[in-house]
Amino acid sequence: MSKTLLVTGGAGFIGVNFCNYWLKKYPDDQVIALDILSYAGNRHSLEQAEKNDRFSFVKGDILDQSLVETLLREQKVDDIVHFAAESHVDRSITGPDQFLETNIIGTHSLLKAARQVWLTEQADSTHRFHHVSTDEVYGTLTADDPAFSETTAYQPNSPYSASKAASDHMVRAYHHTYGLDVTTSNCSNNYGPFHFPEKLIPLCIINILSGKPLPIYGDGQQIRDWLYVEDHCRGIDLVLTNGRAGETYNIGGNNEKANIDLVKALCDLVDARFAEQTDLKQRFPDAPASKGQASDSLITYVADRPGHDRRYAVDASKASNELGYEPQESFENALGKTLDWYLDNENWWRTVLDGSYRDWIDEQYGS
Ligand code: NAD
Ligand code: DAU
Repeated sequence: MSKTLLVTGGAGFIGVNFCNYWLKKYPDDQVIALDILSYAGNRHSLEQAEKNDRFSFVKGDILDQSLVETLLREQKVDDIVHFAAESHVDRSITGPDQFLETNIIGTHSLLKAARQVWLTEQADSTHRFHHVSTDEVYGTLTADDPAFSETTAYQPNSPYSASKAASDHMVRAYHHTYGLDVTTSNCSNNYGPFHFPEKLIPLCIINILSGKPLPIYGDGQQIRDWLYVEDHCRGIDLVLTNGRAGETYNIGGNNEKANIDLVKALCDLVDARFAEQTDLKQRFPDAPASKGQASDSLITYVADRPGHDRRYAVDASKASNELGYEPQESFENALGKTLDWYLDNENWWRTVLDGSYRDWIDEQYGS
């Protein structure tokens, strides 16, 4: 049976990839992206989805409960997939307020809308609210600790992860108190196309191509479990479609890497591409590889992030056993695909860097 999904944060990194994934995989479904187009939201990224007449975009705020209720009613939305958030840890350290507003109050506003329309007005139909959360709610691990499972106690350490933890609890509470059908997924660090260049991987790709320093926080030995964004989208699909109501599922990449090793692998990959593709030297004259130098000469150790979590690792065996979830991409292959996407989409990241992606939206769609 065909469905209509409301995807909040649909113009952000994972939201865009998810809209593209869903439209391709489910040819009868409608997808509505709701996004306020904050600095991290880029309507240009939705160009492919916008070509599809089963896709529509609504510029709006998840805090606007009346707008969300109207969408749920009038568009006959079956399920919500909730990505909208403030997502960058460093920004949460310099300005926590917006994180509480969007991640906690915003999620609660969506829950209130879902409760009103789905439970009060449409009590005889079935709907699901899927909440996209993070492994950061579990805090940090030592080198020898077992990976985070769904029963690991919450110990968030940054304003970002604390705000996500609070939103997870509100989602859970709406299930237990009001009977809303909810699922939550807690995933590890995503990477892939359309990743905003404030995050480690796109920042480093673009800085290498521009000949700028690669800032490594502290000693660079912090470990993250890297998950290719398409594997994450597949994991969300499995949870949304077959997950048990009220349950949480961890989604990981089985792919722990220390930051410094990741950045060095990226440097080697860029150097290899420059050796294979001679046009890259003309296109990116400031890159070390264009001057006969190694990209890793740009590595620069800088002051550590306050409260920096040392290690994340995700045990995704619940999703694997119950839903058949397995990441399909190898890190080497997916990092290569990610690099190639940034090489092929220079215009995308240049317009993000110079801010003109916002002018493009006005030109294309009117203010
Ligand atoms: P992102 O920052 O790239 O995108 C967030 C999107 O939400 C943007 O398009 C922004 O405009 C939109 N948004 C912000 N406030 C809004 C509001 N009030 N109303 C409507 N839209 C609003 O984030 P992302 O990396 O795509 O992450 C998506 C979700 O996945 C977040 O909830 C994040 O916590 C979670 N997550 C991300 C990762 C990761 O590695 N990127 C890992 C685990 C969990
Ligand atoms: O674990 C999931 C989380 O992954 C998500 O919930 C967040 O939304 C997402 O932003 C990401 O958080 P991180 O803080 O892990 O991602 P980030 O890319 O900012 O940093 C990855 C690691 O690299 C982290 O240990 C900090 C380090 N780092 C980051 C930047 C931007 C650096 O060493 N230098 C940098 O310049």
